[in-house]
Amino acid sequence: MSASLSRARVGVWLIGARGSVATTAVAGCAAVAAGLHPPAGMVTETPPFADSGLPPLTSLVFGGHDTVDCPLPKRAEELAAGGVLPHGLPAAIAAELAAADAEIRPGGPAPGDTRDPEELIDAFAADIRDFVRRGRLDRAVVVNVASTEPASDGAALPPSSLYAAAAVRAGCGYVNFTPSTGLHHPTTAAEAAASGLPYAGRDGKTGQTLLRSVLGPMFAQRALAVRAWSGTNLLGGGDGAALADPAAAAAKNAGKERVLTDTLGTAPQGEVHIDDVPALGDWKTAWDHVAFDGFLGTRMVLQTIWQGCDSALAAPLVLDLARLTLRAQELEIAGPLTDLGFYFKDPLGEGPSSLGEQYTALVRFGQRLRGTA
Ligand SMILES: NC(=O)c1ccc[n+]([C@@H]2O[C@H](COP(=O)([O-])OP(=O)(O)OC[C@H]3O[C@@H](n4cnc5c(N)ncnc54)[C@H](O)[C@@H]3O)[C@@H](O)[C@H]2O)c1
Repeated sequence: MSASLSRARVGVWLIGARGSVATTAVAGCAAVAAGLHPPAGMVTETPPFADSGLPPLTSLVFGGHDTVDCPLPKRAEELAAGGVLPHGLPAAIAAELAAADAEIRPGGPAPGDTRDPEELIDAFAADIRDFVRRGRLDRAVVVNVASTEPASDGAALPPSSLYAAAAVRAGCGYVNFTPSTGLHHPTTAAEAAASGLPYAGRDGKTGQTLLRSVLGPMFAQRALAVRAWSGTNLLGGGDGAALADPAAAAAKNAGKERVLTDTLGTAPQGEVHIDDVPALGDWKTAWDHVAFDGFLGTRMVLQTIWQGCDSALAAPLVLDLARLTLRAQELEIAGPLTDLGFYFKDPLGEGPSSLGEQYTALVRFGQRLRGTA
């Protein structure tokens, strides 16, 4: 690697920077970059992406917005106490956690904030530009990992859209890892489309929906008629608390159900429920019950139980998405990154819904990032 390449630094600006997913991404990047842990769960560290020109993990500099002020090292200690991060890791990467903590700015809008949307967007964009300038970063990507918002009424810009507009205004690529509106608002969508910047979303596919995007195509390809597909999720942590709000859960569940309609060709009976169980913390149990008909109408059932650590599933994908979007921006690839549907419950564009086909599209995108396809 040339000296200039090895010195290049790029920014990852996290909305919700003090949350579980963000803290795990910052801590995980430092741990893997230091060789303390293998890059399990990071697709961009596998051979198909070796020549894609992705920014190395050592070049990523973190900052972000949050509305709470709990220091990142303390959040990391809490996650280690909960078994999400390995014991001893927060101490081993204390310098990296402190560096990221120093780059987190107050988000908004806070209760009683009198700034109008334009002023908020300008203030957020100024924070991001300042981060890029002071860090002498080549470029930065904004990744939304803030609490899920209730589904928007379509009129006023929700906070996720203010941040998305700020990302565009600051000249950054944008990734929406949550089901919140982000760039899906008509105003911000138009700005993003005209910006020449790459963007991706929405809602990371890490557990129940990941499994559905594999099993749905299996039933369809084997010509087995799915009559009903029902699911229940039990989880705690900040995400569990946010999704206890029925409006926020509705935004999440729409994405989970879309994958079934897209892969099966019809919407089966059944719903998805999300229950907040604070005692479970970041550990999610997702139960799916699939009733299907076999040959001559024989009735059968498949049940799956997924027990995952939500932030450990999400963080490597956040790092993947940040690197892929930063590289796309470097190559001046603009607009919706529809080849990244592999990562999302509710992907942008009309790409395939089965995980296998989405993986093929992702590998092809990795080749395009080499500049050879
Ligand atoms: N497997 C997964 O963990 C997974 C998968 C898909 C999507 N997600 C989404 O990722 C998001 C983060 O999940 P988490 O477990 O880290 O949640 P969390 O509650 O631990 O963190 C969310 C953070 O967002 C901050 N926040 C809330 N409103 C904000 C605002 N207006 N501006 C700036 N920051 C704000 C909160 O203070 C908090 O620190 C959620 O929306 C979740 O649905 C997670």
